Amino acid sequence: MDRSVRTYHARGGRSQPRAKRAITELLPQYGVEPSGPKLDLAHLFNPPLPVVIEVGTGMGEVTALMAAESPDVGLIAIEVHTPGVGRLLRRIDNQNLTNVRIVHGDAIQFLNERVPEGSLSGFRSFFPDPWPKKKHHKRRLISPPLVQLIASRLATGAFLHVATDWSDYAEQMISVIEADPSLHVEFVGSQDCPLWRPQTRFETKGIAKGHTIVDIVAYKK
Ligand SMILES: C[S@@+](CC[C@H](N)C(=O)[O-])C[C@H]1O[C@@H](n2cnc3c(N)ncnc32)[C@H](O)[C@@H]1O
Repeated sequence: MDRSVRTYHARGGRSQPRAKRAITELLPQYGVEPSGPKLDLAHLFNPPLPVVIEVGTGMGEVTALMAAESPDVGLIAIEVHTPGVGRLLRRIDNQNLTNVRIVHGDAIQFLNERVPEGSLSGFRSFFPDPWPKKKHHKRRLISPPLVQLIASRLATGAFLHVATDWSDYAEQMISVIEADPSLHVEFVGSQDCPLWRPQTRFETKGIAKGHTIVDIVAYKK
């Protein structure tokens, strides 16, 4: 993927003292650098765990719930937004969650540099930024180059789970994932998704606007 294309919104330099304090105090314990050599992902956890990546964890409420629900899975949460990283750090520290690591930075850089091929048990991204204007579609996370990158990092049998409330983005997600020869689409729909997830903040906003939610689940062949 063209690294000059950002998939996230540039945000103003508003002071975020609470988040910055959480990052200073807790990121050394729970954080993983977005840049550097390839990692042995399983050994980021003690005991070593199979690893799932979630990109765009927002304020982290769903991430913490899913981590608490699956203590036998190591979750790597990736988010650029400083207040969201601060909130998730506080959640995992307060709840003594030992199976979460946080990357405060760009997921594309992390996937490219630090995640070995075939190393992930799963990848999820819920309600990635929709970039509704046509001229911004190139910023969408679930695009051919990124899906190719994600697919290369998934182990055989690993899952890819994405959701959106934007119908044209859902169509793009389906066609891009179906076009990848290494992936098999198992589920597309608004109900009875085979993989559990809690309702997210952006999903709640989408529902309030009358949007239809679409979940897509695929597996690495
Ligand atoms: C629309 S929000 C959704 C948040 C949450 N998943 C939810 O459903 O409430 C998308 C999030 O993805 C993050 N994001 C977008 N591109 C990213 C990237 N390349 N690396 C890390 N985070 C990214 C944004 O900062 C934003 O917080």
